[in-house]
Amino acid sequence: MPETAKIILDGTEYELPVMTGSEGEKAIDISKLRDLTGHITLDIGYKNTGATTSGITFLDGELGILRHRGYSIEDLAEKASYLEVAYLLLNGTLPTKAQYTDFEDKIKEHTLVNEGLEGMFKAFPTGSHPMGQLISMTSALSLFYPKSLNPHRDDEAVNRTVLRLLAKMPTICAMIYKKRHGHPIVYPKNSLDYVSNYLNMTFGQVTMDNYTPDPVIVDAMNKLLILHADHEQNCSASTVRMVGSSQANLYSSTAAGIAALWGPLHGGANQEVLEMLELIRQDGGNVAKWVAKAKDKNDNFRLMGFGHRVYKNFDPRARIIKKTCDDVLNKLGIHDPVLEIAKQLEEAALTDPYFIERKLYPNVDFYSGIIYRAIGFPTDFFTVLFAMGRLPGWISQWQEMRKEKQPIARPRQIYVGEPPRPFVFMNDRG
Ligand code: CMC
Repeated sequence: MPETAKIILDGTEYELPVMTGSEGEKAIDISKLRDLTGHITLDIGYKNTGATTSGITFLDGELGILRHRGYSIEDLAEKASYLEVAYLLLNGTLPTKAQYTDFEDKIKEHTLVNEGLEGMFKAFPTGSHPMGQLISMTSALSLFYPKSLNPHRDDEAVNRTVLRLLAKMPTICAMIYKKRHGHPIVYPKNSLDYVSNYLNMTFGQVTMDNYTPDPVIVDAMNKLLILHADHEQNCSASTVRMVGSSQANLYSSTAAGIAALWGPLHGGANQEVLEMLELIRQDGGNVAKWVAKAKDKNDNFRLMGFGHRVYKNFDPRARIIKKTCDDVLNKLGIHDPVLEIAKQLEEAALTDPYFIERKLYPNVDFYSGIIYRAIGFPTDFFTVLFAMGRLPGWISQWQEMRKEKQPIARPRQIYVGEPPRPFVFMNDRG
């Protein structure tokens, strides 16, 4: 007998199907509720709403579990390359050696971007935020590849768009960095792996033939990109799916996801964390004062990098990043005073009843900025790195939605505005 849920409205009982996910997650299927009862469900911020079924990522916020296609994030961060994880997210299985080589070769075919795209930088004001630039550049790709505009074209055309986007993202991110510094761009070097190529385009110089990215940095970047690669139905992934559900092309859907990521409550938190730590350091390093401010309901200050909508125990990504942060700084011989402040802040918050009761723990953004800074990235570039890492996740979510032919996403609302009223001409309005 399939499990059902009963709901009683105005004395009438209705039965709704219950569905169980492959990890035992339960959901009441309310898709027919309005037809049956005239009622909708109300869940502002989608705190309790499943917008889709998905086979990409499993997350248990209570137990601090994150798995992609069945593989634990700990295993992937330790043992896989970023491109392997991208392949896994997109295709559902880890690649064989031959599949991996083929995937990497195909990406390498598309690493260059059209020179016309470089012209856009002339229009961006000096010092404008890299995330604003990334949104514009990603969206502009659709203009250079008009055949990508119809996502229901043959699968081969869509696959080419996927490869193009994966290939061009590091090139575009590096161009943004170079233009910020007023330096000429460095073209992709396809003899390098994905991550080293990105670092070469960013930190190499056209005048340097022999720049070799430090293996410690390559390894750290690889891990950081993996840890950001997907995170099921978060704000940006849901945005990509929502925009894509109108059959908008992949470039524009991704640009919308990047816009969602930019906000300080989502990916933009990594920039905010570093700025917060600097502020505390410059203020004398009084951690207790800032913890008190975060708890004060009359103060808008929040501990950035703390709390998560779904993790209510710990964020497994934060654990890995904290260790990577220590390793990288030790290996590079860097002493960053904000790392000490971060550790004190974490310790103070984790023993404070306010944070314990609300289950607020450091999230993925808490320590990542310290690593990015040690590598040499400016603070306002951190969210760009998050976006680069998240790209295969967004694409996989978009592909899943497209292949399953999901309907256009169109939530309902409960109207709480004015009742009907007659129009009054301006001269009679008093
Ligand atoms: N500092 C102080 N108090 C907090 C914080 C914080 N960072 N986060 C949540 N709270 C309090 C909040 O005031 C509320 O208290 P009360 O119940 O007394 O009103 C309670 O905890 C629940 O918070 P919420 O805002 O209702 O929770 P949410 O699930 O809507 O928000 C969040 C989750 C991540 C937006 C929030 O924790 C936050 O603003 N954190 C700081 C920003 C941040 O680090 N964002 C990155 C998230 S991880 C990267 C990613 O995947 O996007």
